[in-house]
Amino acid sequence: MENNVVLEELTPKQIVEKLDTYIIGQKSAKKSVAIALRNRTRRLKLPEDIREEIAPKNILMIGPTGVGKTEIARRLAKLCGAPFLKVEATKYTEVGYVGRDVESMIRDLMIVGFNIVKAETQEKLKEQAQKIVEDELLELLVPGSKKDVKKDKDYSAEFGTPKMTPLFGIPGDAMTINGGIIDIPITLKKETKVKDNQEEKNIEKTQAKKEEIQKDEELTKSTREKFRVWLREGKIEDREVEIMVSSQSRGGPMIFSNFGGFDQIEDAMQDLTSALQGPKRKKKKVTIAQAREILLAEQLENLLDVDSVSEEAKRRVEQMGIIFIDEIDKIAVTESRGADVSRSGVQRDILPIVEGSTVNTKHGIVDTTHILFIAAGAFNLSKPSDLIPELQGRFPLRVELDSLNAADFKRILTEPKNALTRQYKELLATENVTINFDDDAIERMSNLAAEVNRNVENIGARRLHTIMEALLEDLSFEADEYAGETINITAKYVDEKLKDIAQNQDLSKYIL
Ligand SMILES: Nc1ncnc2c1ncn2[C@@H]1O[C@H](COP(=O)(O)OP(=O)(O)OP(=O)(O)O)[C@@H](O)[C@H]1O
Ligand SMILES: [Mg+2]
Repeated sequence: MENNVVLEELTPKQIVEKLDTYIIGQKSAKKSVAIALRNRTRRLKLPEDIREEIAPKNILMIGPTGVGKTEIARRLAKLCGAPFLKVEATKYTEVGYVGRDVESMIRDLMIVGFNIVKAETQEKLKEQAQKIVEDELLELLVPGSKKDVKKDKDYSAEFGTPKMTPLFGIPGDAMTINGGIIDIPITLKKETKVKDNQEEKNIEKTQAKKEEIQKDEELTKSTREKFRVWLREGKIEDREVEIMVSSQSRGGPMIFSNFGGFDQIEDAMQDLTSALQGPKRKKKKVTIAQAREILLAEQLENLLDVDSVSEEAKRRVEQMGIIFIDEIDKIAVTESRGADVSRSGVQRDILPIVEGSTVNTKHGIVDTTHILFIAAGAFNLSKPSDLIPELQGRFPLRVELDSLNAADFKRILTEPKNALTRQYKELLATENVTINFDDDAIERMSNLAAEVNRNVENIGARRLHTIMEALLEDLSFEADEYAGETINITAKYVDEKLKDIAQNQDLSKYIL
């Protein structure tokens, strides 16, 4: 969630603008994606009966390799407040075969949604949890000062233990527990003569004890308040305390890990083992700062109402969820390659999910009818028409991405927030080497990239990565020798390093 702007509140124009900061060109793809996203927000504003009728228009993005298909998905995911999942079609196998079944993408999306809602909820609970944690820390530092001492939490501080710790206040029969030693006044039944005397003494004793305890309580209370101030001022962050921590490890070796199809069973098994074993808790010595973090996480977990988080997550996944299926062309079956049972099987398995069906997940049953699907593929070996017809029909919106030319490369090298020239500049800056790219140098690199793409193979913007790497290889290698220097990358420098390679087709096949 960049700049705290939630995607749902952005107009299509604003979404495109956001994407523009990372992706050059590809206007129509950005536009379709933006409209599709906006339509979901629009749909939610409609009366329920109409809302149910409007199914999302799934998108198929088609374009050569390295032109920004995956990059658009990646950026959307970052922008997106809605549950968003990016998957590779090639990762799935037909139900019944070894591998992940396609329904697992819905389960994964649900996990994404759950985590979003969980994070939001915990953010709201933070203040409450912090208060509890402060008390818990004080209990560690000044034990026994809390009225309702939790017996199961065996906290003990390293220092500052007051000399007397009243645990249960003062019961009527003057039975007190002093630091664990039970102190019962002995009443002698037979010696009735001394009894009165004895009783009087007992009353006096009790009175004295009451006062002593009261004093101690006050002392503890003021010590506690002192520590509270220190805690808030961060003065005792490095002090060590002993706390009980639950070990994080879940279950033993994952026996089912190679059977993706069984991942639900695997989940269930893990839940079962951890439920049977119960949370393992052990004592650990940590600093106050660490203890605060551990206790806070624990409290946030305790305060969380998992059921309501699941419910809200389910609502968001069903209404706003987006699944990006990358490499869809890789599961298309061309006739020349013969019938590939497993691939068309995967396509068939995807059908009901895209069309709308229910999938059982850890957090409840999810209806997939309104989840938006965006599929993407280069389709250089296969065509969209090689997909099974039913699947083609379920992606009615087609957008084509343009292949990139030298002018695009020039912008890609410099404009995006994560532009390659910036990345290398930062990398070398860590070695105290400053590099500047001349405009001419950028121009020369872009032209070279376009040329090699034309002559050898078109790998789109990925060519820029190989060119950049070859260009700066020597500099990267010897960076320490240039520490403190500023190096201007000029057109001449580019020529020196790359021209021979670029002009020799065989060489560029291997190097660029
Ligand atoms: N239009 C663009 N603007 C900025 N950078 C781009 C653009 N297109 C590609 N890139 C860069 O090129 C690299 C590859 O792009 P991407 O992963 O999106 O390719 P793709 O279209 O998914 O290709 P493939 O079909 O091979 O998966 C990324 O690092 C990305 O930053
Ligand atoms: Mg890709």
